[in-house]
Amino acid sequence: MHENITNRAEPWLIGNWKMNGSLEMLESFELVFRQRFGSGGSLKGATLGLALPDLLLYPSQGIIANTPLTVGIQSCSKWVDGAHTGETSPAMAGALGAKFVLVGHSERRVNQIEKDEEIKAKAETAQTLGLIPIVCIGETLAERESGLAQEVVLRQVNDSCPASGTYIVAYEPVWAIGTGKVATPQQAQEMHAAIRDKSKDSQIRILYGGSMNSSNARELLSQPDIDGGLIGGASLNPHDFLAIFDSRP
Ligand code: PGA
Repeated sequence: MHENITNRAEPWLIGNWKMNGSLEMLESFELVFRQRFGSGGSLKGATLGLALPDLLLYPSQGIIANTPLTVGIQSCSKWVDGAHTGETSPAMAGALGAKFVLVGHSERRVNQIEKDEEIKAKAETAQTLGLIPIVCIGETLAERESGLAQEVVLRQVNDSCPASGTYIVAYEPVWAIGTGKVATPQQAQEMHAAIRDKSKDSQIRILYGGSMNSSNARELLSQPDIDGGLIGGASLNPHDFLAIFDSRP
């Protein structure tokens, strides 16, 4: 495990498996990572993680424990425990090995109607229970086309991020997620700089997400305010995922 939050020179590359994955997929990651890093081998220069479906968290501990992969989950409850049917407490995820949790992914903002206030509450509960929240924000195409991108994103920074403590931001323009349309390095850098400017901690880690792959990662990760990536499609195959790691500047 290698989770260096503060050294922005070493990127965090987090795969978001969404509602994909299986024991066989974890096994294929284990095999490819063992071939590359050896059993129990460590990884230098970056943190590589997978945001797994909840059900794969526990078996992942047996299967990929000897790889340098860090694991997390894709959402969590804003509550600690109790009568909340179907929810996952960050405490339970932490006890099973999760180090981080995504909150406020745009798919959940749309499909589960998650609002900023609830996302902030989830992030703060996660912090209290020892998980690093990765707060996802980003504008839609309509918002960008009407010149509102920065206003929308900075409002999300203000309303969804924890009031204090350690957290990571993932800027994911909604129009770039799963579409193959990646933000240009300039568009991404401009937004990341604005997010950093608005954040209380000038050294906060800010990841870019939205169609990142091994052909575009190098240029994106070379931008001064891009400190890693949140990677969907290209994280489902261990070779594609490692190709992003290999292409980092
Ligand atoms: P994508 O997904 O890389 O497939 O665009 C990114 C994300 O949704 O986090």
